[in-house]
Amino acid sequence: MASTHDAAAQVLVASNRGPVSYTVQEDGSLHAKRGGGGVVSGLSAIDPDAGALWVCSALSDGDREAIRRGVGEKGVRMLDIPADVHSDAYNGIANSVLWFVHHMLYLTPLEPVFDAEFRRQWAAYEAYNRAFAEALAEEAAEGAAVLVQDYHLCLVPGMLRELRPDLRIGHFTHTPWAPVDYFAMLPDDIRSQLVLGMLGADRLGFLTRRWAAAFAECAEAMDPQIVGRQGDDGLRATLEYARDWTRPGHRTRISVHGLGADAEFLRERAHQADVEERMAALREEIGTAPDGSLRRTIVRVDRTELSKNIVRGLLAYRQLLEDHPEWRERVVHVAFAYPSRQDLAVYRDYMAEVRRVAEEINEQYGTPGWTPVVLHLKDDFARSLAAYRLGDVALVNPIRDGMNLVAKEVPVVSDEGCALVLSREAGAYWELGEDAITVNPFDVMETARALHEALSMKPEERAERTKRLAAAATALPPTQWFLDQLNALRDLQSS
Ligand code: G6P
Repeated sequence: MASTHDAAAQVLVASNRGPVSYTVQEDGSLHAKRGGGGVVSGLSAIDPDAGALWVCSALSDGDREAIRRGVGEKGVRMLDIPADVHSDAYNGIANSVLWFVHHMLYLTPLEPVFDAEFRRQWAAYEAYNRAFAEALAEEAAEGAAVLVQDYHLCLVPGMLRELRPDLRIGHFTHTPWAPVDYFAMLPDDIRSQLVLGMLGADRLGFLTRRWAAAFAECAEAMDPQIVGRQGDDGLRATLEYARDWTRPGHRTRISVHGLGADAEFLRERAHQADVEERMAALREEIGTAPDGSLRRTIVRVDRTELSKNIVRGLLAYRQLLEDHPEWRERVVHVAFAYPSRQDLAVYRDYMAEVRRVAEEINEQYGTPGWTPVVLHLKDDFARSLAAYRLGDVALVNPIRDGMNLVAKEVPVVSDEGCALVLSREAGAYWELGEDAITVNPFDVMETARALHEALSMKPEERAERTKRLAAAATALPPTQWFLDQLNALRDLQSS
């Protein structure tokens, strides 16, 4: 097909956070840092000459400086969204409204309040989505495939379809999707914009059928323009709706792609020298029990994220020490809670609360030779891998989580086998539940019992379960996860 555009990109990815970020060094030079994650490894599977482009937002002053200086990486276009617009869209709407809705984080007697300030921020969210849609429309070759990521960019598929009806558009949600009644808290016109924005895509992807079904229910419940639904229970449902974006009867197909862990990368990375060093340092911090035996470890690794339930994890650990004094001096809770979204006061407060409760436990139970909670708040990937390798028990107890990759990564790199205590509200529960000890994340007593059971598990059983967990966790590696979605979009052309 002859291109009506000069642009050459055949495969485009759009996300708020891109694969690279910049900081201005003291000497004024720019330092580029590459990030990881499913989309990064997915894209690496495509031929470098295939004309792939990643469109992302500048997130910091360093990123904006890089744009001003014309510094960039091949295959990445960073959008110079003004800092105030980005902050209103990202902090104000994406992280304080959409994230809260999908993770059900509101204290509803007092929040949310959809007032004039919300409307002002919503306008920024629209402008920010429009900047992405326009950049994608400009860069995409005729008939190109565009893979839009996450709740930051819900309006992009609809906007882009109006600009470029020839494109094949996918959107993937990495978070849970809210239950229909919770989603209904949003003002009607906002719900409608979000759902119709998403339905501008040809394909919508979710991490589990639970989240896919929740989206389908929200779509059907709210908009009389959606005229029908075909397919089964939401796993591969087809939503048909009457709005004529560009062609009558546009259809959006919903499917589930359960992103897995990248075993090859993790196993290789987890055996590099810096990880070995961190393991030695951690062993030092953990120490040995008074009888000289090695102490058991309960590890957790999270962003300090409201949905991760770190505080209740600590409370469950305290309950364990209370109910089972035999574990005192013989176990250490190694908790890594890395800074996240620190522009938001509620995240800063949460981090302070994590620290306070950890200190309280250490004061209450600690002895001169034993620190019950070893808490680290500074991000260190090598140290996370070290903890994965030596942990006896991994605690993954989110209130609600799209998938939770830590639950999948630990079994892959664990040296001796690690028992997994897993929240039934994590997407990973649907794939790992059978070999994990599963808990209601709000039930601290149950979580304490689960920790005891996990610590008491026989080494052979632990190793067996870990093997099965690792197999389930790597069933859909990131490259396959990405290619499946890309191929499904490309197939549309021929159908
Ligand atoms: C979740 C979201 C991602 C996001 C990540 C880190 O996993 O689904 O889109 O990038 O959290 O959050 P941040 O706000 O730092 O990008």
